[in-house]
Amino acid sequence: MVTCYDYTFARLLSRSAMDGILVGDSAGMVMHGRDTTLSVTTDLIRLHTEAVVRGAPDKFIVADMPFLSFRKGVGPALDAAHVLMSAGAHALKLEGVCGHEDVIGRMVGSGIPVMGHLGLQPQSVHACGGYRVQGRGAEAASEIHGQAKRLEDLGVFAVVLECIPADLAKEITFALRIPTIGIGAGAACDGQILVLQDLLGMNPDFHAKFARPFMDGAGGILNALGAFERAVKTGTFPLTEESYS
Ligand code: KIV
Repeated sequence: MVTCYDYTFARLLSRSAMDGILVGDSAGMVMHGRDTTLSVTTDLIRLHTEAVVRGAPDKFIVADMPFLSFRKGVGPALDAAHVLMSAGAHALKLEGVCGHEDVIGRMVGSGIPVMGHLGLQPQSVHACGGYRVQGRGAEAASEIHGQAKRLEDLGVFAVVLECIPADLAKEITFALRIPTIGIGAGAACDGQILVLQDLLGMNPDFHAKFARPFMDGAGGILNALGAFERAVKTGTFPLTEESYS
């Protein structure tokens, strides 16, 4: 899986073999330059989801439930879920499990495929001391393992494991019947997910160990911009055949 937030990239993804797309709340950081995902709203995810659905109508699309949208009680959580499912999402992802088991249960019971998200939960960045590996040490590992089992018991169809030791992700993957999707969680997960812009090497200032750039997107784009500027300044763009008579 990869993340996607816009129509143009969604069109490209629809021509790829990618199994699924996540309209992640990382949109707040990647698309809107915010420091965290905390200010992302349901309406923002709705807008991005609608664009992605238009671009990749044939793909399996998961939308993120933003910060606190599922923590104000079952009613408001179902209202937020309603907005995102009406935008065309096929499934919804929410971070954590403790304290919103009732919400997950009601969503699953209402026919909404729910994806879990454990390990590093960016919506809890201030509580977990920054963007850092989670689940190191026996106690922390067993807590995440227990949360994964709880999510499975609640009926979620898959769980994202973010930034946990590879051995822990492997143990959880073998213990669960549902698939695990890893990001910074090693190779034993059933699937992998990356932020599209990281995979394309679009942000040379962002370095995370797990976020391998599969191309030099930033370099390619800067080369193209430079070539455009030079062509305009040297009078080689636009050519006659690029102009109307
Ligand atoms: O919002 C997001 O991009 C995510 C992925 C990191 C899994 O939740």
